[in-house]
Amino acid sequence: MFDQYQRKIEYVRISLTDRCNLRCRYCMPEEGIKKMRHEDILTFDEILRIVRALAVLGVRKVRLTGGEPLVRRNIVELVREIHAVEGIEQIALTTNGVLLDEMAADLVAAGLTGINISLDTLKAATFADITRRPVFARVEAGIEAVHKAGLTDVKFNCVPMQGINEAELPALVEHFTRLRPWKFRFIELMPIGCAYEAGLKGIPMAEVRSRLEQAFGHLRPVQPSKGVYGPAAYYQAEGFRGQIGFIDAMEHKFCASCNRVRLTAEGFLKLCLNAKTGLDLRTLLRSGISDENLRMALQQAIYHKPEEHFFQSSAYKEKDSRAMYQVGG
Ligand code: 5AD
Ligand code: SF4
Repeated sequence: MFDQYQRKIEYVRISLTDRCNLRCRYCMPEEGIKKMRHEDILTFDEILRIVRALAVLGVRKVRLTGGEPLVRRNIVELVREIHAVEGIEQIALTTNGVLLDEMAADLVAAGLTGINISLDTLKAATFADITRRPVFARVEAGIEAVHKAGLTDVKFNCVPMQGINEAELPALVEHFTRLRPWKFRFIELMPIGCAYEAGLKGIPMAEVRSRLEQAFGHLRPVQPSKGVYGPAAYYQAEGFRGQIGFIDAMEHKFCASCNRVRLTAEGFLKLCLNAKTGLDLRTLLRSGISDENLRMALQQAIYHKPEEHFFQSSAYKEKDSRAMYQVGG
């Protein structure tokens, strides 16, 4: 379906949980996290009802996020059921990779078509420092499991941080994109979660890019394939099979081509990453709404998706101060 600004909405990101098995410094504090109550989180049946209604409205792609989506029990079953929904063509997952070694093959067999792995470093010690959990070896094994499972749509998300992983940015790109057709993406540190409280400083994307050009020579822009919209601009280094992506959430606005809506674990349909406007679907579902009225409510809400986000506005703090593990990225 189209919203009031003629954007075609065909992608929903669904957060399955606010729990996570890591504690990345820019995302979560080590302690004192207020967890969602289990009864407040949508059941898989409720999620499936929403997915079916959205599919009727034209949604074609689902991404499962968190927190860490793989800590939610029976996620393989959920993937299988989403895969069976008529109209859904792609099911992707955003994960920290810790549980992929055990689960990648089953997820792909259930119908998973793409995966985004968050990875800021190739060094076990730096990984433990950023995530506060010494489990780099498990992520490494998970990445190999994804390779073995034969998934081709594989992307990495890396947040460059001054003094933390900045020296290894070219090494990361080299490792994942020289021989494999994978996409390695850099995300600018955003003023959400604990990023600033933790004293972390990001690196502007232009700077990241120029450092990579020093290492690999000219980066050639890759034209996006037809119908593919997203916040990342992709480039390719000479002789590399994969691509490098830059996600400049602060500077570069991609709102005009935004094709997505978000569903929080608690069942709130968010129309924009940085806006509180949306629809409380959990209340509607639990008060017995019919399929037809659910579709109408979704259609109406999506039509009113905001025109753009306002990260740089000074009023930002009042808009939404929730972290990535709470909104699902
Ligand atoms: N700034 C930028 N990226 C963030 N992520 C989480 N918090 C932030 C932040 N404050 C990233 C994670 C993951 C993706 C879903 O979001 O590293 O790759
Ligand atoms: Fe977990 Fe992702 Fe947040 Fe790290 S950034 S704590 S992996 S939700």
